[in-house]
Amino acid sequence: MIRVEGLEVVYPGGNRALAATTLAFQPGAFTVLLGASGAGKSTLLRSLNGLVRPTAGRVEADGVGDIRRELRAHRAATGMIFQQHQLIGRLTVLSNVLMGRLGHHSTLRSLLPLPRAEKLLALEAIGRVGLLDHALRRADQLSGGQQQRVGIARALVQKPRLILADEPVASLDPATADRVLGLLHGICRQDRLTAVVSLHQLDFARRYADRIVALAGGHVVFDGRPEMLTPDIVTRIYGAHPQPEPELEIAA
Ligand SMILES: Nc1ncnc2c1ncn2[C@@H]1O[C@H](COP(=O)(O)OP(=O)(O)OP(=O)(O)O)[C@@H](O)[C@H]1O
Ligand SMILES: [Mg+2]
Repeated sequence: MIRVEGLEVVYPGGNRALAATTLAFQPGAFTVLLGASGAGKSTLLRSLNGLVRPTAGRVEADGVGDIRRELRAHRAATGMIFQQHQLIGRLTVLSNVLMGRLGHHSTLRSLLPLPRAEKLLALEAIGRVGLLDHALRRADQLSGGQQQRVGIARALVQKPRLILADEPVASLDPATADRVLGLLHGICRQDRLTAVVSLHQLDFARRYADRIVALAGGHVVFDGRPEMLTPDIVTRIYGAHPQPEPELEIAA
């Protein structure tokens, strides 16, 4: 389990992105974070991985306690998936996925070629996201949806307990986004991974979340099961403005 206790984040310059927040994420649950732009979703996600330093409170994970004391171990057990997947385009899919293993080795060891066992782990992860045929292709030759699946494989090869995904499907067309999110959701369920995933699409949140946590102005304004998300609450989350339409950008 991962918990945030009285976690508050004030950025330099005085911007209070997260008001004192206490939340616990149960093992194996798929939690979706909702909130308008600037609500604090990325701040919360990045805090869970120690990428943002809290101004008050702390983040605790089973096995490590306060994550700041065991940041390296915590990060090794945490797979991050980003909107812009952050692959190295000129490297192969396999090499990109192998990057996910680096957190498990000392800096010195990382400079040496990774052993065969590591490559097998990477190929297994690539197989799970359906890209074995593309393992030796350059990452920048893949479509947006395929690249995001490589991002998922890179997180999986870490053998994580926790998956943090910040708008993992925001730059994909709706059909591809649904497939990629369905894949991520299925793998998290199968491996009993704890997942915290920020999304801008309410319909995906309703379809995939075990639990929805919504933020507005750095405050939790909803925390419950998807079926409890009424139109009134949606208005509280996004204000009177309508939901942004899904981006209709078609993956190359
Ligand atoms: N590095 C930073 N320095 C200063 N302020 C920041 C920084 N990062 C975020 N903020 C501010 O903190 C608030 C929360 O930002 P955050 O990125 O967590 O929102 P978000 O919910 O992820 O938004 P989006 O949906 O646009 O990604 C915003 O007001 C933002 O401008
Ligand atoms: Mg964000």
